[in-house]
Amino acid sequence: MIMLESLSKIYNAGKASEVKALDGVSLRINEGEFVSVMGPSGCGKTTLLNMIGCMDSLGSGHYFLDGTAVHELKKRGIGPFRKKKISFVFQSYALMEAYSVFENIELPLKAVNMPRKERRRRVAEILKAMGMEALEKKLPAELSGGQQQRVAIARALIMDTPYILADEPTGNLDRKTGSEVMDLFSEIHRRGKTIILVTHDPAIAGRTERIIHMCDGRIVESTEYSSVESVCSP
Ligand SMILES: Nc1ncnc2c1ncn2[C@@H]1O[C@H](COP(=O)(O)OP(=O)(O)OP(=O)(O)O)[C@@H](O)[C@H]1O
Ligand SMILES: [Mg+2]
Repeated sequence: MIMLESLSKIYNAGKASEVKALDGVSLRINEGEFVSVMGPSGCGKTTLLNMIGCMDSLGSGHYFLDGTAVHELKKRGIGPFRKKKISFVFQSYALMEAYSVFENIELPLKAVNMPRKERRRRVAEILKAMGMEALEKKLPAELSGGQQQRVAIARALIMDTPYILADEPTGNLDRKTGSEVMDLFSEIHRRGKTIILVTHDPAIAGRTERIIHMCDGRIVESTEYSSVESVCSP
């Protein structure tokens, strides 16, 4: 379970360029939920995701993840904790251009020094499960956007973390391909993962269980199973 209590994040504190990216966010996301985050550009969606994903230093407030007080973790402890708990999917796929599909998916396993034989078994297994065996030797540039995002999702799944965070994962895809990627997220959710997904597209958000609307660094509304318009117009 994710529990945020009055979380704030200020960039460039004390300078003229100071930005209150998160302004007292309190939020609870239960294990197994499929949640989307919407709101106008600059309202703090990526900042929220990065805080939840332990990608950036927390500002003020409390953050508990599965009972661990993340705000109390020492810098050294955050990396290993994140690797156990959280995987990311990005709008721009963030694949290594010089690496094959197989090697890209294998990377997180190398980062934790998994033996080669076990790595190969795990990657082959996931490629098969996602029907991508034929792509394993291809480079990212040889794939369509939808295929690249599927590879990025496979890479996010390979560590089998309970939480998957996705920042506009369908942002670069056409509607049909985006919908196919959402089919994949829905399937991953059915298998028990907790998914938090940022999107600008109400149709994408409508396929999640709950929509969190943000405005000016705050949560202004949290909607279950519906697509109520945000009270904060872009
Ligand atoms: N590293 C940073 N340094 C300074 N300001 C930042 C930084 N990251 C984000 N900001 C500012 O914090 C605010 C929130 O940014 P954030 O990226 O979270 O918005 P967003 O909702 O994800 O927007 P978008 O929909 O355009 O991706 C913005 O005003 C942004 O300019
Ligand atoms: Mg963003």
